[in-house]
Formats: sequence, structure tokens, C-alpha cells
Amino acid sequence: MYRDGYDNPLTTGSARAAELYAEASGVMLAGESGMIPAFEAVTREDAGFALGWVGLARAHHAFGLGAGALAALERAEALTDGLTAREASHINAFALLLRGQGPQAYRAIREHVDTWPRDALVAQTCSSVFGLIGFSGQPGREAEILAFTAGLMPHYGDDWWMTSQYAFALCETGNIEKADQMIDRALAQRPRNAHGVHVRSHIWYEAGATEEGLNYLNTWLQDYENDGIMYSHLYWHAALWSLAQGDTQAMWDRVDAAVSPASGSTSPAINILTDTASILHRATLAGVAVDAERWKGVSAFARQAFPATGNAFIDVHAALAHAMAGDNAALEQIITRPAGPAADLVPDLAAGYRAMAAEDWSSAAGSMMRAMADLARIGGSRAQRDMVEQSLLTCLVKAGRAQEARDIASLRRPLLAESIAA
Ligand SMILES: [Fe+2]
Repeated sequence: MYRDGYDNPLTTGSARAAELYAEASGVMLAGESGMIPAFEAVTREDAGFALGWVGLARAHHAFGLGAGALAALERAEALTDGLTAREASHINAFALLLRGQGPQAYRAIREHVDTWPRDALVAQTCSSVFGLIGFSGQPGREAEILAFTAGLMPHYGDDWWMTSQYAFALCETGNIEKADQMIDRALAQRPRNAHGVHVRSHIWYEAGATEEGLNYLNTWLQDYENDGIMYSHLYWHAALWSLAQGDTQAMWDRVDAAVSPASGSTSPAINILTDTASILHRATLAGVAVDAERWKGVSAFARQAFPATGNAFIDVHAALAHAMAGDNAALEQIITRPAGPAADLVPDLAAGYRAMAAEDWSSAAGSMMRAMADLARIGGSRAQRDMVEQSLLTCLVKAGRAQEARDIASLRRPLLAESIAA
């Protein structure tokens, strides 16, 4: 039998289809440009190759293109003849995931990975902060991703993808030095690996290496096309560093070109909403004037892209946007009808943003404080959750409690302590 890039047998009679599948899988694992066309090429080469259709379904799903994902998935599910046990399990796992059956998908995927640890496309669903563990809402999710990736490492040798995922988990649990070594190894093998470049950006963020990170991203992004799945998010990282440098014009240039709803970005809606709300708020906290129209734009985008609650990370950013745009009805819906595994944290954080918009700093601090002990459960990265951390610190300072803000920052996020005025 022909095999994929990780030695897993494939049920296709076409050597070319197997080769294209290995290439497309690499593009997906690297977050490189051309993910959907890469899997379309596999299905054109062999329309009877089930995993080619699953890959195409997953590529559509990653960009939030539900109809394309389900159509491709159904093609895969109709191809049952001669499948290996791994392929049948692979199709089942993605069918559960793509049909929104998260808990069942998670169980199926963990069992699948225990049996076939080198099925990288399946393992990928649990390996990063936006994955099934990342958005599980469970306490200790950062440690769980570290355990998951560390457990897979012995199966992958020096593989660039696995090493970059392990590096991210190390970064998010505070082991910056080891993360730094790992990501260098990964990027040396595949320098255009956008997910690896993303991990590299997080490591520099955690290290406070603003200039180094910005210089690197400025160069690297010149050759990254806007259909790459990390496009908007990597521009957000660059915009954040421009803000840290006080280069407001460069920050707005990046936001307007690649991050905001008005940029026309085709990146996943979760990135467009959360990264735009985040940079607008962090700019405000840094003393930059933000036009009310910008908030109205992101609030409207949130209502349209995420009409129902269900993911705390999304819902907290949407609540912030609605609060700052003055859309009280949308904000109240999030506060009164939270949903999803970290729903218990959403009302306090959303009410905190409602109080911030009203400049009721003590009330805002009180609300946010109630959610801080378990903040990581909302999901996303440490760098992204710094938006909430910084919100609390600002509220405390404005409420005349600067020493409390410094004490909290030094315990929770020393990186942010220097942003607190003396
Ligand atoms: Fe990031």
C-alpha cells in the first residue's frame, strides 16, 4: 500500500494521489497557503480515496466553511470499501468533529491517537490552544496539552510539526528556554511553517523580545499569502508589537490591512473577531484613541458570525466589542445566556466589560476578579488572555489601587507589571 508522510497506509491505488495527500497534509500541518486547493488536487487525482475527501472537509472546516466541509465529508463517508481500521476511525473522528459533536469527537480522537499516534492530522485537533483540549473549558488545559504533546514526541523523532507543537505547549506552561530550542529545530526543517512561526512569535512575546519578534515577522510575512490560515493572527501579533513600540501608525496599518472585519480577510471568523477586539482594547488601555466606528464594526461582525453563545473565548471578546460599541442587547444576551464548557466564567467577565465601558472601575475589577482564578479555562493563548489580565490591572489602577495591581501582576503575569504606572 502507499503511505502518507507519517508511514500510515492509504487506501488508494494511485501513487500520485498518495504523494499529493502527503503534500497537502504538510500544508495543513504547517498552516501554509493553498490548503484547500492542495486537498482538491488529491480528490481530483483519485475521487475514490476517502482520506483525500476528509482532508478537504477538514480544510474547509478550518476556515469555517461549513457547507463545503459537510459536502466533502459525505463523499468520504460513502467510500467504505477496503478501508484500513485507521482510516475508518479517522473518518469517524472527523465526522464527529465536523458535525459539532465535540465531547464525542474528543473521546474518539484520544482513542484514535492512542492507537495510531502518528496520524498527525487527527492528533493536530488536540495539540494547540485553539484545539479540542484548548477549548475544553477544563481546569489545567495548558498542562493537558503539554502532557498530550510530550506523550506523542517519542513517536515522531525530530519531526518539524510535532516539535513545533511541543514547543507551543512548553511556551504556554512557562518553559521558554526549552520551547526556544525546540522551535529552532522545527523551523530549521520547514521555515515556511506558519504554525511554527506563530509559536516562535509567542516565545518572543513571553520573553518580551518585541524588536526581535517584530523584525522577524515583518520579513517573514512578506511571503505569506492571505489565504494562509494564520494570516490575520500573525498580523495581530505584529500589530501588538507595533503597539508595544508606540508605533501607532504601523499598528493601524496592520489592523486595517489584515486583521479587522473591514480588511476583507478570509481568515477564520474566530481570529477576525477576537484579534480585532483584542487590539482595539489593548490600544485603548495603552492610551491610544480608538474611533467608535471601529468598535461598531467588530460588534456587528460578532453578531453576524457568532449569533449564539457557546465558546467562552469568543463570547468574552464579543461581549467586550458589544460593551464598547454600546450594543446593550447583544451584551445582555451573552451575560444572561452563556453556554459551553466555560460558560460559568463568561457573565463576570462580560459584566466587567460592561462596567469598564461605564467607567465604573471598582465594579469592573470586582466582576473580573471573580473569574481570574480560572481564567485559562476560557481558552486561547496566554498572550491573548493578557487582554483580560490588562483590563483588570487598568481597572485597579483607575480605582486608585495601583499597589494591588502591581502585586497581582507580579504574581500572575510579571510581563505586564512594567505597564503599570508608578
Ligand atoms: Fe497567537
